[in-house]
Amino acid sequence: MIEQEHPQQVCNILAVETSCDETSVAIVQNGKKVLSNLVSSQIETHKAFGGVVPEVASRKHVESITLMIEEAINESGLSLQDISAVAVTEGPGLVGALLVGIMAAKSLAFALDKPLIGTHHIAGHIYANNLVADIQYPSLALVVSGGHTELVLLEREGQFKLIGSTRDDAVGEAYDKVARALGFPYPGGPYVDNLAMEAASAVELPRVWLEPGSYDFSLSGLKSAVLNVVNQKKMRGDEPMTAEIARGFQEAVVEVLVEKAIRAVRAYGVRQLLLCGGVAVNKGLRKTLTERCEREQIELLIPPFEYCTDNAAMIGAAAYLKWKNGEFSGLDIKGDPSLSLEKWSVADSTTIG
Ligand code: KG4
Ligand code: ZN
Repeated sequence: MIEQEHPQQVCNILAVETSCDETSVAIVQNGKKVLSNLVSSQIETHKAFGGVVPEVASRKHVESITLMIEEAINESGLSLQDISAVAVTEGPGLVGALLVGIMAAKSLAFALDKPLIGTHHIAGHIYANNLVADIQYPSLALVVSGGHTELVLLEREGQFKLIGSTRDDAVGEAYDKVARALGFPYPGGPYVDNLAMEAASAVELPRVWLEPGSYDFSLSGLKSAVLNVVNQKKMRGDEPMTAEIARGFQEAVVEVLVEKAIRAVRAYGVRQLLLCGGVAVNKGLRKTLTERCEREQIELLIPPFEYCTDNAAMIGAAAYLKWKNGEFSGLDIKGDPSLSLEKWSVADSTTIG
């Protein structure tokens, strides 16, 4: 960790995100104001393979990153000299994909002689909420994405404590697998969500609660239950009941996520619940969680769609925590597919406000 003096008062962070299948570059002022946020999705390329192909993802990032950096600067109305620091997703993610963003960010930081801030992808998803409202502490984040399903306690700004996580599949991953079984292309989450919202009834599926008091999740049993129903219907030549299965799956997922999040809000006495990650765009989850929080008078923050799916603005928002604390990365950082969120917490939160 390198400590440096803050060279300017206004902090314009140029942020780069290439952890999976979206190339994104943003410029964020003081962790709050998004001056530009460009996202190039590779979904169409990966669709043909039924999932993200890591090697192809890296190549696609290489093709677009340089132009996107230029474009993000142009769109922000700033010049390169106005950039205070360069942030980049350091992990978790696909190592080859992370490396493309990291190499671009390092080169830029070195050329501009500005600090580099290696940033945690999930801290980004959580701090996407700070782009639309002020996070109040203590806060609890329900993180739901393609690779993560977690409950994270933030006792103070930039302090992350994992209180629950999935023991097998992540929510987005389960959605994608169920979607594939129902005959939809990758990424299948939106198809299952839309179908579930249209269905008149739901196929009954199990809720997996684990041990009493546990904030962990398990989704592989539910996914297997869906596959059993689908296969049984196929073998018997019954109606596929795709919409009813989608609704049954969505209701089972949402009920457990919402119930555990609300329990944790009560147990830890937090001031806000933050929903984030790619699956936070799910209509069923947003609706149920919003209604439940209104009924129980819990303040709920949900970022708009463009800050839920992978984007660099959220990385700029999280990197600002490190900027305020003067914690910068060396030019020797490498992509870390299993970077720990707790360890990425700011060094001493009492010094920042
Ligand atoms: O956060 P994200 O963009 O990438 C990761 O960091 O993993 O999340 C992508 C995941 C995919 O699994 C995708 O199927 C899922 O989010 N997803 C959804 C919906 N939209 C995207 N899952 C359920 N309902 C949706 N509407
Ligand atoms: Zn993500």
